[in-house]
Amino acid sequence: MSGAFITLEGGDGSGKTTQAGLLQAWLEEQGRTVVRTREPGGTELGIEIRRLVQHTEGHVAPRAEALLYAADRAQHVATLVRPALERGEVVLQDRYLDSSVAYQGAGRELDGTQIRDLSLWATDGLLPHLTILLDIDPAAGRERMAGRADAPYDRLEDTGLDFAERVRDAYLALAEAEPTRFAVVEASGSPDEVHARVVSPVRAMLDTRR
Ligand code: TMP
Repeated sequence: MSGAFITLEGGDGSGKTTQAGLLQAWLEEQGRTVVRTREPGGTELGIEIRRLVQHTEGHVAPRAEALLYAADRAQHVATLVRPALERGEVVLQDRYLDSSVAYQGAGRELDGTQIRDLSLWATDGLLPHLTILLDIDPAAGRERMAGRADAPYDRLEDTGLDFAERVRDAYLALAEAEPTRFAVVEASGSPDEVHARVVSPVRAMLDTRR
């Protein structure tokens, strides 16, 4: 069976982690071996990078932040993602290069094309077979996030709603530019309702890769 690379994207509070859990269970029911992972922090080096980028008190310059995410991605793809795909497994990943384009490109107002190119260099050009964009109104996402104990110090304090709006708009533009790779899923509603919306593009992609 050929491997498949599925990424989940969306603003903070869009429910990616919940949906990743439900989708992993569904994929395993279909008989697939699933490697569930995330960025930043999917490798030992990545855990260190995640700590640096998200929990360093004080300012991480936008370009330094972009490079740290790209370094995390390079290590992750080389040591975990590509080997799993080569074994024919399904890699189900919370965030990938589109996060950098949306957050560092649009959110931090760096050049989105350069950010994408940096990630493509870091990963030797690896793109997902399917990217599920969980689209949510940023205010609703922030409300969901506010209850989370693991929210990094800076998420709700350093970045305002306009940052989240830019991130959302950038995601939607990416989806429009690559409609065959992206499936945009409305992220409001119960976890089971959203899961039902997520499954159909996943099933369609897997059918094309048999
Ligand atoms: P999460 O793991 O809870 O989704 O949090 C990851 C945070 O890191 C989220 O606020 C988005 C941010 N991020 C970027 O800014 N750029 C990136 O490339 C990635 C992978 C994450």
